[in-house]
Amino acid sequence: MHEKFVEGFSKWTKARKIDWLARHYLSPAGAETLRSYWHRDPATQEIHDGFAENPVSNFYLPFSVAPNFLINDKVYAVPMVTEESSVVAAAAKAAKFWFPHGGFRSRVISKIKTGHIHLLYRNDPEKLKAFFEAVKHEYLRRLKPFTENMEKRGGGILSVELEDLTHLLPNYFTVSFRFDTADSMGANFINTILEEWADYMEEDYPAYGSPEDLEIVMRILSNYNPECRVKVTARAPVEKLKVGENPHRYARRLVTAMDMARVNVYRGVTHNKGIMNGVDAVVLATGNDFRAVEAGAHAYAARKGKYTALSSARLEGDSLVLEMELPLALGTVGGVTKTHPLAAAALEMLGNPSAGELMEIAAAVGLAQNFSAVHSLITEGIQKGHMKMHLNNILLQMQATPEERAALTEIFKDRKVHVKAVKDELNRLRKSKNHDNRTA
Ligand code: MEV
Repeated sequence: MHEKFVEGFSKWTKARKIDWLARHYLSPAGAETLRSYWHRDPATQEIHDGFAENPVSNFYLPFSVAPNFLINDKVYAVPMVTEESSVVAAAAKAAKFWFPHGGFRSRVISKIKTGHIHLLYRNDPEKLKAFFEAVKHEYLRRLKPFTENMEKRGGGILSVELEDLTHLLPNYFTVSFRFDTADSMGANFINTILEEWADYMEEDYPAYGSPEDLEIVMRILSNYNPECRVKVTARAPVEKLKVGENPHRYARRLVTAMDMARVNVYRGVTHNKGIMNGVDAVVLATGNDFRAVEAGAHAYAARKGKYTALSSARLEGDSLVLEMELPLALGTVGGVTKTHPLAAAALEMLGNPSAGELMEIAAAVGLAQNFSAVHSLITEGIQKGHMKMHLNNILLQMQATPEERAALTEIFKDRKVHVKAVKDELNRLRKSKNHDNRTA
């Protein structure tokens, strides 16, 4: 067996796993870094160890806050978790910009989620349809022990249908469900229902035909939930926009830039990435599944067969209007929303919202983020804002002291930041300091 092949790894302690990594993959310093990020409180560390298989340490990201978010007449300080340095600054700037104009109007269109049993049926489709109709109501009754609790919370199974997809793939059918999962993201609820229903079908079908006819292939929720959508708008009189000398020219440029994202996929994808910079940061901070949200959002952007921008801008009378519709399947109970202490704190900061309210907040942050990015792009460009953060990162890498950081920030106030220039200035500063120390 290869010397790096390992058996029983998951059962080892974190310390043993790190020792093993140090033997095969890591320097002593790398191993020490992993150990140094363990939480000082073993009970808290244990919570984090429970979130994934084989954890050896914790991975920190900044937990930031964007204040001044006026959404549906309520003022929020929004928690955001992201590694991209300019994202929170951009969100906070947009929140402040839109505040005097009434902020953002955000409305859940629906919270309906979907899930499917994917199956092959190798007999007359009419026979399958007859079987499905014969058992459907009985199965809904049988599922009561699983749906009762959800129904008490206002959710449950909304519909179930047999879909003939044989025009796409020979013998392919789905049992297609629509769910309301109340305040939970609902993954466990949905998948449990699907697996139960599929088991019932497998058990009962032999009374209708040969067991060979029916092959259940998969039972899984879908991350494509086009009905589970939020609509968010921001509106301001053009005259009142504080954007330099000519707000009308500015507004026209903004609308044009948004139109470019609608018609050009190269721009559209980047434009939507800017939206997701904001959405994902809220989704992550509140312990939701950002991969599901990403997959769903981009599929929705391509729903008409051509990828397009999720947001748009228009001039309506004297006003500039920004608008976006976005599918967002979020939860405020279940998953790690309450068990991850920082996700719980994030939700508390938002006033422990319902799933719908969280969807409205995340969508508003997405539109704010999008506005900030496009605003920068059509005015001073994106680099100026990025550069301040870039400078900080370079100085961090070069282990600059607080005094050196202050001096370099001043030097680069109006200068382009690049690694060599920063290094040169820092070395010059350090040399002159050494010189001063020697001659003092
Ligand atoms: C960078 O993370 C996001 C932007 O590229 C978005 C955009 O171009 O609209 C600035």
